[in-house]
Amino acid sequence: MKSQRHFQAQSSDIILSSAPKTGTTWLKALTFAIVTRRHFDGSTSPLLTTVPHECVPFLEVDAVEDSFHRSPKLPLLATHLPYTSLPNSIMSSHCKIVYICREPKDAFISLWHFICKLAPQEEEHVPLEEALDMFCKGISQYGPYWDHVLRYWKASLECPERVLFLKYEDLKSDTLHYIKTLANFMGCPFSLDEESEGVAQKIMNLCSFETLSNLKVNKTGMHRSTTPLATKNDVYFRKGNVGDWKNHLTDEMVQRVDQITEQKFSGTGLMFPQP
Ligand code: A3P
Repeated sequence: MKSQRHFQAQSSDIILSSAPKTGTTWLKALTFAIVTRRHFDGSTSPLLTTVPHECVPFLEVDAVEDSFHRSPKLPLLATHLPYTSLPNSIMSSHCKIVYICREPKDAFISLWHFICKLAPQEEEHVPLEEALDMFCKGISQYGPYWDHVLRYWKASLECPERVLFLKYEDLKSDTLHYIKTLANFMGCPFSLDEESEGVAQKIMNLCSFETLSNLKVNKTGMHRSTTPLATKNDVYFRKGNVGDWKNHLTDEMVQRVDQITEQKFSGTGLMFPQP
């Protein structure tokens, strides 16, 4: 694999890992704002003019390009790779990993909308039933969703100082707390002065769904615009809610997904808050 050959992790790197549609864009924005906070304020942050995916590149997409140059000052890189497929240098350098996951039904609904948006206009949308069948059978670019989550969960239990495991739902319900958790984990905790200036609160506001999704760059811009992977930035912002599956899935579909979740996660200590 190209990223295996091309990428040399440093011990100071921080890898943001996730299965698709579980909060990657948000995690990129938050971590970028946290680690760059001493260089920018609320009016100069690159997040105001650049989609978070350009602020924090993807290991397996951007970092494998010959033209790719890493900013020496930015320790962040993102990936959707499963834990067992991470480049050897990530494991051997002992760099930190932040993993974000999401309740499986919400992750699926978000994925389905994303696939539909990316499909050429003249093509018919993938029917929900068909997409769900593939999701449940684990037919996806990065393998079965549940296995992706579980392997990082286990790594976070084995090595909590190296792997921070976050849930989208927790981040939604107590964003400020998790911004501080992220800053501590990444080795750049908020100082007392920053606490009194409300810096974490400002980061929370800057990276909120409302702020980011309403920025011109994220409404009308594109990224990787000169490549075959050119993507409209607005595809990364849909609703940003917990429990949207209720608006799409039948009881039978819910049962099917929940049964797999129960089967895969039971006894692991991993649970999702019920909306
Ligand atoms: P929905 O499709 O449920 O709205 P990813 O970034 O991994 O591709 O995940 C995309 C999901 O995260 C989408 O969920 C998107 O709306 C949501 N999202 C994007 N930016 C967000 C933000 N700043 N805060 C909360 N959710 C966000």
